[in-house]
Amino acid sequence: MRQIFSRIVSFILLTSLLTTTLVAQRRNQPNVEAKINALIARMTLAEKLGQLQQLDGDFPTGAGRPEHFEMVKKGLLGSTLNVRGAKNVNELQRAAMQSRLKIPHLFAFDVIHGYRTIFPVPLGEAASFDPKAAEMSSYIAAKESRAAGVAWTFAPMVDIARDPRWGRIVEGAGEDTYLGAQFAAARVRGFQGPDYSRPDRVLACAKHWVAYGAAQAGRDYNTTDISENTLYNVYFPPFKAAKDAGVDTFMSSFNSLNGIPATADRWTLTDVLRNQWKFDGFVVSDYTSVMELVNHGYARDEADAAQLALNAGLDMEMVSRFMNQNGEKLVKEKKLSMATIDEAVRRILRIKFRLGLFDNPYTDESLEAKTLLAPEHRKAAREIAAESFVLLKNDNQTLPVRKNVKELAVVGALADSKEDILGSWNGDGKAADAVTVLEGIKNKLGPNTKIRYAPGCDAKCEDTSGFDKALDAVRDSDFTILVLGESAGMSGEASSRSDIDLPGRQLELVRAVAKTGKPYAVVLMNGRPLTINWLAENSPAILETWFAGTEGGNAVADVLFGDVNPSGKLPVTFPRSVGQIPLFYNQPSTGRPFDANNKYTSKYLDVPNTPLYPFGYGLSYTKFQISNLRLSAKQIAPNGSLTVTADVENTGAREGTEVVQLYIRDLVGSIVRPVKELKGFERVTLKAGEKRAVTFTLKPEQLGFYNAQNKFVVEPGDFRVWVGQSSADGLEGSFTVK
Ligand code: BGC
Repeated sequence: MRQIFSRIVSFILLTSLLTTTLVAQRRNQPNVEAKINALIARMTLAEKLGQLQQLDGDFPTGAGRPEHFEMVKKGLLGSTLNVRGAKNVNELQRAAMQSRLKIPHLFAFDVIHGYRTIFPVPLGEAASFDPKAAEMSSYIAAKESRAAGVAWTFAPMVDIARDPRWGRIVEGAGEDTYLGAQFAAARVRGFQGPDYSRPDRVLACAKHWVAYGAAQAGRDYNTTDISENTLYNVYFPPFKAAKDAGVDTFMSSFNSLNGIPATADRWTLTDVLRNQWKFDGFVVSDYTSVMELVNHGYARDEADAAQLALNAGLDMEMVSRFMNQNGEKLVKEKKLSMATIDEAVRRILRIKFRLGLFDNPYTDESLEAKTLLAPEHRKAAREIAAESFVLLKNDNQTLPVRKNVKELAVVGALADSKEDILGSWNGDGKAADAVTVLEGIKNKLGPNTKIRYAPGCDAKCEDTSGFDKALDAVRDSDFTILVLGESAGMSGEASSRSDIDLPGRQLELVRAVAKTGKPYAVVLMNGRPLTINWLAENSPAILETWFAGTEGGNAVADVLFGDVNPSGKLPVTFPRSVGQIPLFYNQPSTGRPFDANNKYTSKYLDVPNTPLYPFGYGLSYTKFQISNLRLSAKQIAPNGSLTVTADVENTGAREGTEVVQLYIRDLVGSIVRPVKELKGFERVTLKAGEKRAVTFTLKPEQLGFYNAQNKFVVEPGDFRVWVGQSSADGLEGSFTVK
C-alpha cells in the first residue's frame, strides 16, 4: 500500500515541478487570443449568449436532455452540468461539432471528494493535515472524471466555516485560513496538474465566491455581513491560494455579502478578482443564483437580474436563463454593451482552449471502464481515509482492539450503511462499491472472532425498540464497537442543524451500553463538529471518522485494530454547546479577556469559554513530547525571516505520526490581532523512542496581515510563537520585528 502511495506521490511531486513551465506554456499558447477574437467576430449575439449558458443534464442517467441536443447543434448552449459518462458526453459533443462554428461543449460535474472512488469528505481529509494526500485524492478524482468525459469539476470548495450548524462545513477544510489555503492550493494542483488539457486532469473551480460559509445563524443560503478587512484576512486567502495555484474558474455564491448578492457584486467579481488578482478565467453563477437576485430583492425582474450580473462581472449562468433570454433586449436598450458580452465569451473560450477542447473535443471511450475504481485508487482511498481519522479519547488504551478478540458486538445503524459512509456529495460513487465498518471489521478479523451486529436503531434513532437486542449483543460479547453520528444527508447542502448533538435517542443507546459495564469504543461518523459532552466525559474511547468514503470500513478497521496508528487533528473546533458558536481558536483579542476571578470579563455564566476539543487536537496510540524550542534570532527586520525549531520525540511504545504545529501571536497591531494563528505544520513519523528536530520558517507572508486600509503589512513589534500538538498547548517563545 505504502509503495503505491509513494509512487503516486512522487509522480505528483514530479509533475508539480513541471507545473510552472507547462502551465505557462498552455497559458501562452501562440495566437490563442487572436483565435478567440476571430471566433467572436464571427459569432452572432445568440451564439455568444449560448456560450454564457449552462444547463442541467439528467442526473440519474448522466445523459443530455433532448433540448440540449437541439440547442448545441445550433451553437446556442456552451456547457452542461451532470452530463457525464464517456458515451453520453461524446454524443452531446458530436452535436456541438455539427454547429456552425464547432465550439466545443464544456461538461461539468460536482467532483467534491471523488468521482467513482470516493475519498473522505473534504473536512475529514483536512484532518489529515496532509495537503499531499488531498493533492493525490484530487488527482485520482480528476483521472476518473476525465475518463468519464467530465472536464470541469465544481471544486475545491474553499469556504472558511466557523459555524458547525452550517451543513456545508463538511465540504471545506474547516475554520482556519492558513490550513484552508494549503488545502485549496493542493486540491487545485491535484485536479489541474501541470496542464489540465491532459486526459487525466480536469479544470477546477474555487467556490463559493464569497463568504458563503459565514451564513448568519449557520442557516444555509442565509445573508452574510463581514467587514472588508475580515474578508481580506480570513475569507479571501484560500481563494487567493487557489488562484495562485492556477485555478481558472470561480463560482459566485448564493449569499448576499454586506447587502450585495455575490452573483452581482462588482467589487468581488471585478475589482478584487480581475483588477487586483489579475484572474483571467471565468466565473459561473451557482445553481439559479442569477434568478435568485429577484428573490433577494436586488433585481426587479429577469432582465434586471441579467444586466446586474453581467455588468458586475459574471460570465456564465447555471440553470436559470435570464442572461440568455434577456441579453438581446438589454443590448438593444443599451443597458448592456456588446463589449461586456464579448469579454465574458472571451473568458469562457480562453478556458476551452486551455482545456484542449478545440484540438480534441472527444473523450477516449476505452479509458472509462479501466480507470474508474481502479484497485490503486481504492488503495489510496483507504490510506487517506485512515489518515483523516481523529482519536478524540482513549482511556487506558482501550484502542486498539486486540485482533484475537473472541466475541465482538457491533452496534449502530451507521456501522452497516453503504450509503452513509460515502458522505454527502459523493460524485458518481455507488453505494454497492462501499465497504461499511461492519464489513471492514469482518475483513480484518479471522473466522475465530464471533461478530454480533445489532443496529439498535436507525441513524435518526427515534424508535428504541431495537435497543434490547443490541444490549443483548453487547452483554454476550467481550468488546463493543458503537458506531454513532449523523447520516450522510444530515450534513451537506441545505442540511443545517440547530442542535448538533447525536441525533435522536442515540445517546440513550450509548448510556445503556455503558451501563452493562462491558468495554466499548465509539466510532463517530459525521460531517460537522458535534456537541458530544457526555461521550467526552464518559466513553472510554472515541474515534472520529467523518464520512470516510468507498474504502471507509476497511480504513476504520485498520485503525481500530492497530494496523494504522491514528494521526489526524481537528481542522475545526468542537464546541461544548451551540450557545458558544461561533467558536474558533483564532478569535481576535478582547478588551476584557477571560478572568475566572472577575465577573466583568468576556465569558458565559453557564458554560466555559473553552471548546470541548480544540482546533488541531488529536491523539495517537503512542505519545509525543515536544522540547527544546529555539529561534534563529530574537529580532528580525519586517522583510526578514526566522526559523523556529523544536525537537519532537516519540516517547511511547510504537511508531506514530505527530502533526507538529506552529502558531504565532502579534501582540500589538494597528488592528486587533487574533490570540493565536496557525502558520505552519508538519507531519512527523517517528519510531518508538525516536527524536527529530522540526524546523519552521516564518517569513513576511506569515507575519503580516491586511491593515485597516486592506494593505498587506508586517508591523514592527513583539510576537509570541508556540510549537505544539494542538492550538491549546505548546512551548512558547518570543521575538521582535524591528
Ligand atoms: C451548490 C454548488 C454546486 C451546484 C451544482 C449548488 O446547489 O451550491 O456547490 O456546485 O449546486 O451542482
